[in-house]
Amino acid sequence: MPAGLTLVGVGPGDPELLTLAAVRAIEQADVVATPVAREGSASMAATIASHCISTKQRLLPLLFPMVSAARPRREAWHLAADALAAEVKAGQAVVLLCEGDASLFATGSYVLLALQQRHPDCPTRVIPGITAISAAAASAGWPLALQQDQLLVMPCPETPDALTGLLETAAQHPRVLALMKLGHRWAWVRPLLERQNMLSGALFAERVGWPDQIVRSAGDIEASERPYFSLLLVRQGWPDVLP
Ligand SMILES: C[S@@+](CC[C@H](N)C(=O)[O-])C[C@H]1O[C@@H](n2cnc3c(N)ncnc32)[C@H](O)[C@@H]1O
Repeated sequence: MPAGLTLVGVGPGDPELLTLAAVRAIEQADVVATPVAREGSASMAATIASHCISTKQRLLPLLFPMVSAARPRREAWHLAADALAAEVKAGQAVVLLCEGDASLFATGSYVLLALQQRHPDCPTRVIPGITAISAAAASAGWPLALQQDQLLVMPCPETPDALTGLLETAAQHPRVLALMKLGHRWAWVRPLLERQNMLSGALFAERVGWPDQIVRSAGDIEASERPYFSLLLVRQGWPDVLP
């Protein structure tokens, strides 16, 4: 494979959920870059793609701390972009693994933007992956959007008021909501959905594709803090014409 950087979507969770293009790019890479949240911690993306990675390849862990402050996040993106560009300049074919799709709320997207800014001559490409919302919907046999439905993908709102407003607007359209980064917010989101009688139209998904995945009707999941890797799909109505 020629020198360059390829962002590769893998999973989510399930090692079977890799495109042929993803498998080929990973297998042919000299360097496999993997995002990690802490020094020395395991990379979820590398675990998913481990069946495509050989001992002859060099692993390059890139640290992206999970903090909200702008400065450490920018520093991490710039450091990662510089490290990847240096590998490519040295003639290496590099892949950067991303969990799910490489363009949806993905660390890889920030790295790509930083590279375009700081190293515009670095050849890059992106191999799309399967989003966690698609994998969750597929796992439950839950149609994401039909006919005139809208689909709004966004982080879960921070407050009950904001979520209530969002649900009201969604009901008028009709708009299916895909709420990412649900995690600890589930402790108040569930009671809110229950009060509004919306639990039966909502699908809860946690660690989709991993052996311990939970994909259930929202009503089956107790109100409590859940892991960061959880999401919610909310449908408030169905099109008139259905089989
Ligand atoms: C930084 S975003 C990454 C999204 C990813 N690029 C995608 O295409 O789905 C992280 C959020 O995606 C969702 N997510 C990612 N992987 C997941 C999984 N395996 N199971 C459930 N939710 C997941 C969660 O809402 C999590 O908070």
